[in-house]
Parts: sequence; structure tokens; C-alpha cells
Amino acid sequence: MREMTSAKQIRHQQREQWTAAAPGWGKFRKSGDPTSPITERIIHLSEIRPGLQVLDLACGTGDPSLAIAKLVGEEGHVLGLDLTEAMVQGAVSRAREEGVQNASFRTLVSELDLGVPNNTFDLCTCRHGLMFMPDPQAALQNLGAKLKPGGRLTVSTWGLPQNSPAFTLPGIIVGKYTRLPMLDSTGPGLFSIPTPQMLTGYLQGAGLENIRVDKFDCPVMTADSPEELWNRIANMAGPMVKVLRDMPEEKRSVVHDEFVATLSSMFPNQKVVLKAEALVATGIKAD
Ligand SMILES: C[S@@+](CC[C@H](N)C(=O)[O-])C[C@H]1O[C@@H](n2cnc3c(N)ncnc32)[C@H](O)[C@@H]1O
Repeated sequence: MREMTSAKQIRHQQREQWTAAAPGWGKFRKSGDPTSPITERIIHLSEIRPGLQVLDLACGTGDPSLAIAKLVGEEGHVLGLDLTEAMVQGAVSRAREEGVQNASFRTLVSELDLGVPNNTFDLCTCRHGLMFMPDPQAALQNLGAKLKPGGRLTVSTWGLPQNSPAFTLPGIIVGKYTRLPMLDSTGPGLFSIPTPQMLTGYLQGAGLENIRVDKFDCPVMTADSPEELWNRIANMAGPMVKVLRDMPEEKRSVVHDEFVATLSSMFPNQKVVLKAEALVATGIKAD
């Protein structure tokens, strides 16, 4: 277990980061979600059908919970769980706006205490949350225990930093001015589960079989201009929002100027597209 920082401290930091980012998620998701190919892949690999009982851990503002809820029909149900109350409230609002009635959402104190009985779900999902947890192996074992025998678990993470300029480029610029733990692969963070081998190991450790991992590029940072992208990152990028907000105004303005100048030189036509490598893994709990 990654115990340089205690599990409680890690959860506390995560809660602070995502509480700061939650309003940005509410605002910017309305203008489209460039990460939707990841949800589509999760749905495809999970072989979703009407009637499934689904648990979505680290559901954030409702991805993939809401998309799955629309596919499982009235007989099916999705329970979304997350550490951060403000993200969960975002999911509740979106469910209301989108008229989704077969999904419910709840805030957790710990990913190791999900408050649901073992052997009850047909499908468990976790989209881009596992790598922020103190002990991903323990989290997956606990999540896997909630599956019925023969049930499926599907989880996604980000791939290698060198294949993910959408995160490393802003990270390098901001990281010149302040310590940014998101680029540190020794603890929980964006790149802490970056290879199919590592993800496979975690799924095997959770007792899953027939494991498949898909790796693909996703254009996760898209904007009509560097300025627009800065706005998104400064309000939405979980590991950065609080760091930037806590900076003295003068310093933040220097970081902003360097960010916009760097991206303007890379994208002279202003339109920005930066990709990241996504991993989506799925496996089945032995009967
Ligand atoms: C990148 S967001 C992903 C949200 C959503 N699944 C999506 O893909 O849009 C990461 C989420 O993980 C949650 N999270 C971080 N650590 C967690 C933990 N230990 N247990 C449960 N959720 C956690 C955060 O609160 C945040 O909502």
C-alpha cells in the first residue's frame, strides 16, 4: 500500500481537489464531453443489457452512471458512489435534468466501505477514479466482492504520460511554478496505473478472469483557443484547480501567460486538440 501519505490524508486531498473542481465540471460538461469515447468503450466492453444492477464507483458528476442507466431500462438500476459530495450533487442534478429515474447517488467516506452487500451487482464500473485511491488493489478487491458470481467489472485509467500531452503539457507549465503531485507517479495521481500490465495485475488480484484491456488515444482537451483551454483547466482539472486557485494572483497570471503563449505557438490557428492515452479493462468474477 502507498503509505508515505496515509489513506485518510489521500482521501482528504482528493476530496479537496474535486470539491474545488466540481463547479467547473457542472459548467463545462454542458458544452460537450471530449472523453465520451471512453464511456462508449466502457459500455461496449461491459455488454450492457436491460435489467442489469450496476454499481459505479467514483461516479463524479455521473459518468458513466447516467449513460448506463439509460441502457439498463426500468428493470435495471445504477448506484453511483463517490468520495466528493459536490461531485455527487452534480450527478444528482444531471440525472434530474436528463430525466434519468433509475439511478441514485451517494457520497462515501471510503472506497473500502461502500455500504452495499456483497454478491449483489451484475456490473461494477469505475471510470478514471481508481488511480486516485490510496490502495487500488484493496479498492478493486472490495468492489469485486460486490459482484454476483459471473458479474463483470470494467475500469478505466490514463495511460503513459509520454503518450498523454493533454495532461503533461499543462502539467509541465504549471509545475515550473509550483509543486504538482499529479505528475509524480509514485503516489495516487493521473499516471499511477498507466500500463495494461499493471491494470491487468490489479484485476487478477481482485479475482477476475477473462481480462481484456483496450488502449487508445482520446482527444481529451479540445478548445477553440488556448485561452478557452486555460479556462477549462483552471476550473475543471481536478489535480490543478485548487493549486491554481491557491496561487498568488500575480504568479497565476504569469502561469496563464506562459500557457497561452506556448499553446498559441503550437496551434497557430487557435483551435487546440490534445490527446491522452486511455486504458479500459474488463474482467469477469469467477462463478
Ligand atoms: C476524474 S474524476 C472521474 C469522475 C467520473 N467517473 C468521470 O469519469 O467523469 C475522479 C473522481 O474520483 C473520485 N475519487 C477520488 N478518490 C476516491 C476514492 N478514494 N473513493 C471514491 N471516489 C474517489 C473523485 O471525487 C472524483 O469525482
